[in-house]
Amino acid sequence: MLIAVDGPLASGKGTIARALAARFGLPHLDTGTLYRAVAVAVLEAGGNPRDAGAAEAAARALDLSDIDEAAIRTAGAGAAASIVSAHPGVRAALKALQQDFARQPGGAVLDGRDIGTVIAPEADVKLYVTASAEVRASRRWSELVGRGDDITLDQVMSQLLERDGRDAARADAPLMKADDAIELDTSDMNEAEAIAAAIAIVETRRA
Ligand code: DC
Repeated sequence: MLIAVDGPLASGKGTIARALAARFGLPHLDTGTLYRAVAVAVLEAGGNPRDAGAAEAAARALDLSDIDEAAIRTAGAGAAASIVSAHPGVRAALKALQQDFARQPGGAVLDGRDIGTVIAPEADVKLYVTASAEVRASRRWSELVGRGDDITLDQVMSQLLERDGRDAARADAPLMKADDAIELDTSDMNEAEAIAAAIAIVETRRA
């Protein structure tokens, strides 16, 4: 069973994807990790995320076994990830790796922005997870502050709106709901409710 989970940042897609993987015994790939790692590699080399050549070279050189979880989870890494991910060369460099993961014989769960539309349009179940901008900003702010990031809620909201706009407006594989995806709005749900709703959708779909 191949499950695609897409949606904007802090919609709950990562939590839902991890829970679905655990529930159905499937391997999980958080594809945002890849773009974040590319962004951090560019920044650490003193480069500019807007430099398509540098970003593509970093994507081609990406070593999955050498990703620094703490470094990629900062607000700065997220913003830079949104910039590097708009370069078609970066997306192309990361595509085969994601498709290989998706096509494992037993199935998989992948979450990101373009899983149901570009990486795995053949997925058995596609979820498009959303939540209001206010709810998403507040979730991400708590998460970042919990990690020790010095950032205000207003700053998180303005970065979120900027990233949403960029992710949805880019020409190559923009964030969008696949025609056959089921939308799950988690604005009024806590974590357990969102996970239960997602499991129910998958079970209905595969019945
Ligand atoms: O989900 P995230 O916040 O970790 O993703 C970071 C950035 O990576 C996001 O702003 C856009 C990009 N991304 C993408 O373009 N395609 C994906 N499949 C996953 C992430």
